[in-house]
Amino acid sequence: MLRDFCRLNLLILTISAINVIAVGLFTIYLLHRPQSKSSNPAECRTLIQAHRFRAAKNGLSPHISRIRPNARLAFVFGIENAFTTPDEGYADYFVKNARDLINLKAQDWGNLAKTLRSAANKLTSTAHRLHLASLVQSLSLRIILTTLLNAELDTIPHAEQHMITLAQAINRAWVSSKNDADLIDFAHNADLQASLSALFPTYNKTDPRDNPLCWILPGFETSWRINLRMVLELMLNTGQSHPEWTSTMIAFAHSPTKTQFEAPGGDGVSAKELVAEGLRLYPPTKRIYRAFEWAEHGATRSDTFAADVEACHLSGGIWGHDARKYNPLRWRAVTDAQKQAYLPFGGAPFECPAKAVFGPRMIALVVGVLVDAVQESKGWRVVDKDGKDVSDVFCGERLKNDRGSYEELFLVRVAGGV
Ligand code: HEM
Ligand SMILES: *[C@@H]1O[C@H](CO)[C@@H](O)[C@H](O)[C@H]1NC(C)=O
Repeated sequence: MLRDFCRLNLLILTISAINVIAVGLFTIYLLHRPQSKSSNPAECRTLIQAHRFRAAKNGLSPHISRIRPNARLAFVFGIENAFTTPDEGYADYFVKNARDLINLKAQDWGNLAKTLRSAANKLTSTAHRLHLASLVQSLSLRIILTTLLNAELDTIPHAEQHMITLAQAINRAWVSSKNDADLIDFAHNADLQASLSALFPTYNKTDPRDNPLCWILPGFETSWRINLRMVLELMLNTGQSHPEWTSTMIAFAHSPTKTQFEAPGGDGVSAKELVAEGLRLYPPTKRIYRAFEWAEHGATRSDTFAADVEACHLSGGIWGHDARKYNPLRWRAVTDAQKQAYLPFGGAPFECPAKAVFGPRMIALVVGVLVDAVQESKGWRVVDKDGKDVSDVFCGERLKNDRGSYEELFLVRVAGGV
């Protein structure tokens, strides 16, 4: 009797195990279905236009095809902007507004650099230990709040702390948006609402077009991660054997002009090329999604396809044997195939308005200001959460490009630093 029971149990167990494996394999298959994403540059550019993908001709308009995969963003952040609005006219209006806001004059760049340098100096002059990711986030957010939302941060008490809290609330909400289990909508996200209200006391919480996150998300979510990786490359990775690169970025932070941005530094590499290489190796938008609906054998099918930007940027066949290394010198001579495969700001007709000027330069500004403020000569070094020096852990390899990496790094000032 007992033995039968055991056998039955074993049988059930075996069947369950097979089931689990089958479901697992099926899920893996679903996630990695070869047709659902492309790493072929020409195919990616076509997919971004959203009319067709391989055999599928899209029945959705390009605009709907683009916003549909962002439905969760609208829900989690309570935003209506070019990425989420079903109203195509409003999307055009938003993009036009964005173009105007980021079209800074030479004098604006100078003022922005001053503001950023003084914020960085204030933060680093009194502290002896700083959370690196928070420092990067706060400077990245400051640029966005100042240029796109006209925030008068000097007049808001504890603005610095509020920015860090806001950055963390945004990141938590972003992570939750990827996971059904802990999805919270904006209306119920008290943390996110409170941190926004602290900086924008008068915005209308029930109007998704008036939500400051409409303007914060496109530039902040993308820029802080690339900024952090560039700081790490310069201070702790390939930049260790190229101190001229750091000097070139610092020179731009002191003189943020077009001429300086494009001027060859000590070893012939410009700030522009340093940023271009950062965006190639660590594209903040790793994949660009489009929803499709098409007819097949008399039935309507629907699916979401992805242009795998990161894969296009890392292809050895296109970029050479050192495709996974930070090597800004490659920008001295780029081939047409490389230009075609470079998509950090997407592609026509939805190309990012920050592509030509504002995006690359705001990255150079934050990175330049930061590496200037925490130079080793000023007594700073980077340690892990146990206080161990990390200056020899990266070995020239590509850094990780996921959101949570490098959250456990700190800047500390050694005794005797000035
Ligand atoms: C490092 C910085 C940035 C990166 C890497 C980046 C990346 C991108 C990418 C990949 C797209 C295409 C999305 C798609 O096709 O689905 C895009 C579009 C867009 N970006 Fe950016 N972006 C950055 C900064 C900014 C900033 C500062 C703004 C200012 C508001 C901005 C506003 C927009 C807008 C409005 C669009 C939609 C354009 C359209 O629909 O025609 N981006 N961006
Ligand atoms: C806030 O926005 C909602 C939705 O657009 C609108 O109905 C309401 O009148 C607005 N409130 C104020 C005070 O403007």
